[in-house]
Amino acid sequence: MKRIAALIASPRKGGNVDILTTALLNGAAEAGAQTEAIYLIDTNVRPCTQCEACHRPGASACVLADDFAGIADAMARADAIILATPIWWSSMHATLKLVLDRCYSLLDSNWGNFKLSGKQFVLIAAQTQPDVSMYAEALAKEFAVYQDWLKIRLVDHIAVSAEARGEVAQNAEAMEKARRIGRSLALGDRPSLAHE
Ligand SMILES: Cc1cc2nc3c(=O)[nH]c(=O)nc-3n(C[C@H](O)[C@H](O)[C@H](O)COP(=O)(O)O)c2cc1C
Repeated sequence: MKRIAALIASPRKGGNVDILTTALLNGAAEAGAQTEAIYLIDTNVRPCTQCEACHRPGASACVLADDFAGIADAMARADAIILATPIWWSSMHATLKLVLDRCYSLLDSNWGNFKLSGKQFVLIAAQTQPDVSMYAEALAKEFAVYQDWLKIRLVDHIAVSAEARGEVAQNAEAMEKARRIGRSLALGDRPSLAHE
């Protein structure tokens, strides 16, 4: 059975990112996956300070005592990780950026042996501007840059334009794509590594 963990970075519960992520997780659960949603707005993740304690000989984790360890465990348990964010000021929401920065502690001191290598990733991004190539698609391209190096795979992404809370529910194409991605992750239809 596949496990799918979603990090939902919108502070708006019932908002566009939440709705799309829930559709994806529902599609996955219907196809037999075990799913978990983490609302980052409810978590306490402090900024990485690049103290390098995580890279000292014998160290195994970040020394900051907050909710990151639990989030990292959820990601480590999952076969697929959904990163879901609204576009705020042209980029990802700050709560997701905090988590990704702290993933520095999941690498060794040479930026190798990433503890999430082999995982599949899906990016969900919602923005108001109608031209999704400006921010949401651009963010997916930024993530894709890390694929080979970290040995992960961005298997798909959903980039939508929506403004008001919940507006995306009217976007039948995006909703269907979310369910379809969830189903394919659950069934293991996607290759895991960029070169496969
Ligand atoms: C502080 C803030 C900054 C935003 N910046 C952008 C932006 O740079 N570009 C854009 O297209 N939309 C921007 N938006 C709009 C949101 O991306 C949009 O409403 C999105 O659908 C919110 O998703 P949610 O309902 O999941 O929270 C911004 C919204 C807020 C509150």
